[in-house]
Amino acid sequence: MRMILIGPPGAGKGTQAQNLVTTFGIPHISSGDMLREAVAAGTELGKTAADFMKRGALVPDDVVIGMVIERIGKPDCARGFMLDGFPRTRPQAEALDEALTRAGVALDAVVLIEVADELILERVSGRRSDPVTGAIYHIKYKPPPADVVDRLVHRADDTAVACTERLDKYHRDTAPIIPFYAARGLLKRVDGVGAPEEVLMRISAALQTVQVAS
Ligand code: AP5
Repeated sequence: MRMILIGPPGAGKGTQAQNLVTTFGIPHISSGDMLREAVAAGTELGKTAADFMKRGALVPDDVVIGMVIERIGKPDCARGFMLDGFPRTRPQAEALDEALTRAGVALDAVVLIEVADELILERVSGRRSDPVTGAIYHIKYKPPPADVVDRLVHRADDTAVACTERLDKYHRDTAPIIPFYAARGLLKRVDGVGAPEEVLMRISAALQTVQVAS
């Protein structure tokens, strides 16, 4: 299965990906996680990305495209992958297409998790991430167990100002690629409101109709 999870910031892409990759046995490739790792490691790529990320702006295409295309060329992606947060612009979507065509493979599905803007700020402001396990919690909707609370982190771009900017970028740069995938019959729209388990059931049901190419 070669698939993309798309949706506004805080829609639940990371939360759902963590469950789905176990079901499908494919790697979860989050461009946001890869960029945060590069920032933490202090690499040249991370230094370039850091300021854009903190402001909620998109990291330039030429930085992100090379990073993700190289990643999906690794052996663990030979039988599929779940992209989360990439592509986010039309040039990224086109670069992905070109890379897959060169490799003689194709996308199987694009899942759009839909959540209204009004709900997003509450989701990201309550998010806490576990740097040890990668688990994603929410102080109200998915409270963390007491033994991990002290090590949880609140992302630097989960402020109201950065979140507003991220939403703006989503509507301006990312939402326009949705018709690109809809026109090719790949798009599955899923309501992202409700308990994470309910959303997972909706995604799983939507993916049942997908014919997976080899
Ligand atoms: P990235 O890390 O991709 O962030 P994002 O797309 O803004 O998405 P989030 O990680 O914020 O949210 P999510 O949808 O994964 O939600 P989650 O499951 O955590 O990107 C960060 C930055 O990196 C970008 O702003 C940009 O600068 C840069 N970047 C990354 N990719 C790029 C690219 N391709 N091009 C250019 N720049 C790029 O859930 C959120 C919260 O809600 C959690 O607390 C969770 O517990 C809770 N929650 C989840 N589901 C539910 C539910 N059903 N009900 C209630 N709460 C829920």
